[in-house]
Amino acid sequence: MNCLLIYFTGTFNTRYVTGKVKERFEKEGWTVTTYEIDPLNTERLDLSSYDIIGLGYPIHGYAAPWAFLKFIRHQKFPKGIKAFIYKNSGETEHANDASSKFVLRKLRRDRVNIRNEYHFLMPYNIHFKFSDHAVREILEMDRRLLEILAYEVVNDIPNLKPYKLWPRFVASVVSRPQYIGGDLNSFLYHVDKNKCNGCDLCIKRCPTKNIYRKENGEIAFHHNCLMCMRCSLYCPTDAFDIGFLQDWGWKVNGGYNLKRIEKLKLEEPFITDETTGFYHCYIETYAKINKRYKEIFGVDPVTPEE
Ligand SMILES: Cc1cc2nc3c(=O)[nH]c(=O)nc-3n(C[C@H](O)[C@H](O)[C@H](O)COP(=O)(O)O)c2cc1C
Ligand code: SF4
Ligand code: SF4
Repeated sequence: MNCLLIYFTGTFNTRYVTGKVKERFEKEGWTVTTYEIDPLNTERLDLSSYDIIGLGYPIHGYAAPWAFLKFIRHQKFPKGIKAFIYKNSGETEHANDASSKFVLRKLRRDRVNIRNEYHFLMPYNIHFKFSDHAVREILEMDRRLLEILAYEVVNDIPNLKPYKLWPRFVASVVSRPQYIGGDLNSFLYHVDKNKCNGCDLCIKRCPTKNIYRKENGEIAFHHNCLMCMRCSLYCPTDAFDIGFLQDWGWKVNGGYNLKRIEKLKLEEPFITDETTGFYHCYIETYAKINKRYKEIFGVDPVTPEE
């Protein structure tokens, strides 16, 4: 099979998941090409030589990020081509369930054969920072989910069900502010010049070239922001103020070294049946992944170390 993985990533979590999906299909003998969406490049891809397309994105405001949706809408998918979605996000609340609503609408309009969708767990790049302990455990759950994805996609077993009313409403309405939120937020972003070390990492890495240096040397912003958080997450001196999100205490600074964390030994469970608060929703997600894994492979999932 000749597979193309098209994805958008802000802070590289989706790039990491894409790498895992690629590796897994290569084990099946597939040829896998990856394409990272550049929001400034609106080329139309030639998709005619692929047998199957995977679409990956991070959930932004309960929906697919605007940059991803715009790119997908711009493509012409070959009629009848197979596709699957692999999205990821920090929480597993049902409010995220219909995040692909508008992506599916476009794919169905092009008569794409889309029957599978998977929601990977990845640490937040906004709101609050996950501990290594939490990240290590969710990466193990992702490993199990990837086995399920590979089995179902390779054997043509669909898993996409109609979305419920509430998530559909959330995806249609609550997600709208992201279309203008980034541009507005550019007015509020600023960099503390006393903290900035002048490394220019934010300028070089911003996917929309939204950051520049004024003649007086100060960092400034245009109004073409995706709110992807790449600049503020990776700023080595934590010099960013990200506007109203900062006021809510939602800035996360310092990325996740996923390659390092995935090698850590799994400690005592991070999520248990007694878990309350933010991570409570993970209990149901873990149970679903483990149940499906057992249905498919006939055994309880074991971690590689066990
Ligand atoms: C503007 C913005 C909105 C987000 N909204 C959600 C959300 O609605 N639900 C959620 O679970 N995570 C949300 N997240 C967290 C990301 O989905 C998550 O950290 C993801 O792994 C980031 O992937 P990336 O590194 O490929 O950009 C949001 C992140 C950003 C920057
Ligand atoms: S990444 Fe941070 S320290 Fe580097 S130039 Fe940008 S604001 Fe300054
Ligand atoms: S300014 Fe920052 S948050 Fe906005 S697009 Fe650029 S890197 Fe992303």
